Parts: sequence; C-alpha cells; structure tokens
Amino acid sequence: MTRAVTFAAAASTCWIAAALAYAGDAMVPPAQDYMLNCRGCHGADARGAPGHVPSLVGLDRFLATPQGRAYVVQVPGVAHVGISDARVAALLNWTLESFGNCRFEAYTEEEVAGLRRGPSVSDDSVAARLVRPVVANSSCSTAEAVGAPH
Ligand code: HEC
Repeated sequence: MTRAVTFAAAASTCWIAAALAYAGDAMVPPAQDYMLNCRGCHGADARGAPGHVPSLVGLDRFLATPQGRAYVVQVPGVAHVGISDARVAALLNWTLESFGNCRFEAYTEEEVAGLRRGPSVSDDSVAARLVRPVVANSSCSTAEAVGAPH
C-alpha cells in the first residue's frame, strides 16, 4: 500500500514537471526552466562534467561574434528544448547572469526565434568544427536531410 502511494506521488510529480516544461507560451521563472531542462547535464552550479559536458561559466566568450551568439542557441540542448522562444531567451539571459558573465548583450525572443529555425552557423564556426568530422565519417547520405553544414 505504502509502495503504491509512493509510486502515485512520484508519477504525479513527473506529470507536473512535464506539464511545466511544455506549457506553451506561459512564462515560468528561468531558474525553474534551468532546473527542469539544463541542470541534469550542466549541474546546479553550471560547471558541467569535465570531459563530458562543458561548463556554462564564462559563456560570454562566445557572445562577441554573431557566429558565437548563434552557436549558443543552436547547440542541441538549447535549440530543441521543449519551451517557447521567449522562455529560451529568458533562460539564456538568466544563465549568463547567474554564472559569471558580467558583460553581454541580452538575447531577445526574436533573435532566439530566428536562430532556432534559421540555417546553422557558418562553416568556420565552433559548431561546424564539431559536426564536420561526424558527417565526414558517416557512410549514409542523410547529412543534408538533418541540416548538417555542407
Ligand atoms: C542531455 C544533456 C544536456 C542537456 C539536457 C543540456 N545540455 Fe547543453 N550541452 C550538453 C553537451 C554534451 C554539450 C557539448 C556538446 C554539444 O555541443 O552538444 C553541451 C553544450 C552546451 C553549450 C555550448 C557550451 C560550449 O562551451 O561549447 C551550451 C551553451 C549549452 N549546452 C547550454 C545548455 C542549456 C541552456 C540547456 C538547457 C536548456 C542545456 N544545455 C541542456 C549536454 C546537455
């Protein structure tokens, strides 16, 4: 009996978390969005896991160039998170403010919308350098279909 009750409570907590993560355009505090969508990999202190997940401390080093700004929005964990563009912008700005980045131009909902749906950052960008070896080594021909840089 106790076990059943515990399971029911755990299941409803998951349901609430899922409902919050996919709540359309309703804004939720960015700290909560970070907790639900990023903390599992990047950690509560955003320092990641050395050798596995990069730190988000000092992320502003990317923001000096348009390619760098695009890269931050286009990494899979950000581009494909199941929340609205407005929430992604608020989440990125909160992440930048909270983890040691003092000078940066804030992201807007419009900028995030364009970068999430627009073409990937250009060939000489950080993302392209990460993706190109994978595509080059792939024996299938789906690279174009998944939007990899040519
Ligand atoms: C499933 C684990 C996972 C989740 C969830 C995740 N990330 Fe990541 N993130 C990674 C890994 C692994 C990398 C490095 C590889 C890559 O570029 O995809 C990364 C890279 C990044 C980078 C680039 C940092 C750099 O130094 O290159 C940023 C910015 C980032 N993530 C932000 C976020 C934010 C914000 C969220 C939440 C909306 C998030 N990530 C969710 C695993 C994750």
